[in-house]
Amino acid sequence: MAKESLTIIDNRTGKQYEIAIENGAIRAADLRQIKNGSDDFGLMSYDPAFTNTASCKSRITFIDGEKGILRYRGYPIEELAEHSNYLETAYLIVKGELPDRKHFEMWEHNIKVHTMVHENIKKFMEGFRYDAHPMGMLLGTVGALSTFYPDAANIHDLESRRLQTRRLIGKMPTLAAWAYRHTRGLPYIYPNNELSYTGNFLSMLFRMTESNYKPNPVLERALDVLFILHADHEQNCSTNAMRSVGSSQADPYSATAAAIAALYGPLHGGANEAVVRMLERIGSVKNVPEAVKKFKAGEGRLMGFGHRVYKNYDPRAKILKKMAYEVFEVTGANPLIEIAQELERIALQDDYFVSRKLYPNVDFYSGIIYQAMGFPTEMFPVLFAIPRTSGWLSQWAEMVRDPEQKIARPRQIFVGEKLRAWTPIEKRPVPVNREDAVDTSI
Ligand code: ACO
Repeated sequence: MAKESLTIIDNRTGKQYEIAIENGAIRAADLRQIKNGSDDFGLMSYDPAFTNTASCKSRITFIDGEKGILRYRGYPIEELAEHSNYLETAYLIVKGELPDRKHFEMWEHNIKVHTMVHENIKKFMEGFRYDAHPMGMLLGTVGALSTFYPDAANIHDLESRRLQTRRLIGKMPTLAAWAYRHTRGLPYIYPNNELSYTGNFLSMLFRMTESNYKPNPVLERALDVLFILHADHEQNCSTNAMRSVGSSQADPYSATAAAIAALYGPLHGGANEAVVRMLERIGSVKNVPEAVKKFKAGEGRLMGFGHRVYKNYDPRAKILKKMAYEVFEVTGANPLIEIAQELERIALQDDYFVSRKLYPNVDFYSGIIYQAMGFPTEMFPVLFAIPRTSGWLSQWAEMVRDPEQKIARPRQIFVGEKLRAWTPIEKRPVPVNREDAVDTSI
């Protein structure tokens, strides 16, 4: 008997099966041979929210949640955050290797030539209501890009994939900055390609009447580090959306719009906003013990704590905690940091959090930093979407090239009515309790 295998005995039939184990996993389709009779569909695995199901093989990002390890293409996140910049990290994620100087300069040039957008995109954005959420604007506008680039439908063409990747990485800061300017009633600022990727973004966000806007180098670097930390995170909710929509062979703009939609949710890209609101509600360090008591009693969650994958300190949170103070040197301290530190101190000593392996995640400190830099909370998920674009596109391209991938289509376990005969409306019985009789979930 092969060693790398699993023996299963079906107690319904007494039959024994041997299923191969590959890379620490069994193929769910191998379970289908386990049947309770000739008309049985075969055994399925039931895994709501995919908590224990690998949907792909990937070479991009490695996470060891128990040990708090995050690596892009084998490089530890700590080293990238210390030595790299976002565009170089994006190259690494997309192409698999760190670039030499010549290739980096070509890559930077190829991204920067795509920072401009069609003037009709500007008009499209101007059409949003004055108080539109910038994430909703980004989501709609990225989806609209697909109508400007019909060539993007050639998803099996390598050159087309490369072009759309450069276009999207190049245009995201422009669209994000314009969404922000729109909500402020300020004129949109065109890109300045003499600045760095993050420097240009700061210019498009914050430039007023200066003829020569110079981004603060500390804030420019801080944004670069934040972008590096958010560039990819393997099969999270938005990446799964990107792959799932992309699996129908939709163009990458449409798939990216779907990923942005997933990131919009408060349990994903909106968590750092929730952290800031929570800290503001707590209001003062002296209120922290009482707040922790409430979280333990199930009255709300300690936002920015806990993670589906990390059961240890999120390595990105460690980097951001340190970086917060460098940003505060320029911006002035954000008083919320004192409350956050006290929350962390108390929670990490408390058996409730320790026994459940709940540690600070990336969102615990990122919102405080963004707020100190002058970003309104609605911009937080937008700031997440810009760098994650390189991760989404890289994951999408990996999926497109993977011969094992097909259109994503999970199974269900049907628990509804089996078969009913249609009756005319006059003959339908009046339900005793209407709420029991109809689906009240929508
Ligand atoms: N505060 C208090 N209790 C918590 C928290 C929290 N932040 N997170 C989990 N728990 C508790 C749960 O109540 C549960 O307790 P129980 O076993 O007594 O029922 C236990 O810890 C396990 O929690 P689950 O919800 O099963 O864990 P899951 O892996 O599904 O959730 C999640 C992960 C959604 C991140 C969760 O920890 C959470 O809601 N955290 C706060 C929101 C947040 O910070 N999200 C950002 C995630 S990072 C990102 O998306 C970039």
